Amino acid sequence: MKKKLIALLMCFSLVIAAGCGASDTNSSDSESSESAQSTSANDSGSNKLITIGFSQVGAESDWRVANTASMKSALSEKNGFKLIFADAQQKQENQIKAVRDFISQDVDVIAIAPVTETGWETVLGEAKDADIPVIIVDRMIKVSDDSLFSCWVGSDFQKEGVNAAEWLVNYMKEKGKTDKQNVVVLQGTIGSSAEIGRTKGFGDTIKKYDNFNILAQQTGEFTQAKGQEVMESFLKQYNDIDVVIAQNDNMAFGAIDALKAAGKAPGKDVTIVSFDAVKAAFKSMIAGDMNVSVECNPLHGPRVAELAKKLMNDEKVEKIQYVDEKVYPAEIAEKELPNRQY
Ligand code: AHR
Repeated sequence: MKKKLIALLMCFSLVIAAGCGASDTNSSDSESSESAQSTSANDSGSNKLITIGFSQVGAESDWRVANTASMKSALSEKNGFKLIFADAQQKQENQIKAVRDFISQDVDVIAIAPVTETGWETVLGEAKDADIPVIIVDRMIKVSDDSLFSCWVGSDFQKEGVNAAEWLVNYMKEKGKTDKQNVVVLQGTIGSSAEIGRTKGFGDTIKKYDNFNILAQQTGEFTQAKGQEVMESFLKQYNDIDVVIAQNDNMAFGAIDALKAAGKAPGKDVTIVSFDAVKAAFKSMIAGDMNVSVECNPLHGPRVAELAKKLMNDEKVEKIQYVDEKVYPAEIAEKELPNRQY
């Protein structure tokens, strides 16, 4: 309330200042065109930039790099924002510290792509006390009081897991493979909603079919290096792996390298199911190494920019917004690659 009042007062004083400027015949063309540009940029009738602090998970995957690029490009000065970006290096403690820094800098809006689902109550309570709206983006959080954040935009990770399992069941059926299929799962960061949703969606669906057997599941932290390391250890423990479920493309790339080094043919001897559908995954499918990638859309920047402007204008926003996502099997990879934005 206090922040909005200050924003209103600022708008009021800017309107008066603009009125004075209109009668000032000495004002230069370049000054007035700059001011017109930023006014239309933030849509609020004010030429004040919206200061937004964004706590990003890290740079663990191609998906994350695309997400950061989307956020930075949408939250630009040209679009009416002053962005304060903080990379948490996959650690929630760094995110909590960043959010406290944003509060002490009195930003207008806070955006968080949370590493994990839980552990947010205290710091979000501090943001609420400071009257700073919070947008959660990409992964979800679990809080007992949902007034601790204004809105969320991201993926339905559980649905992605269900989609992966259904694709796998149909694929094996089409191939006439009715014998037992041994599956290993490379999970993402444990406790992140991306890992929780994909593990549950895939696990609950696949257990309805008795020809699939999950041999093991372990985290590869959503990184290529860790994905490769965990796959190497699976290969030492099991000599009968038929399917790898990698909860993101980068872990799949690591697993593919490990399989090749062990003399196996990924995409043929071993079916590779992945998530994200980044450009490099399409190239991997075209090369015959990966069988499918379930899309996870990282292009949240424009959505977050729109939500931030609405919140600053005291407009109503949808609390929960899921993005549309598809499933991309290898057969359509070549046709789809030119259309990919990330
Ligand atoms: O939260 C989205 C997930 O996080 C993506 O699948 C993964 O690549 C990223 O690290």
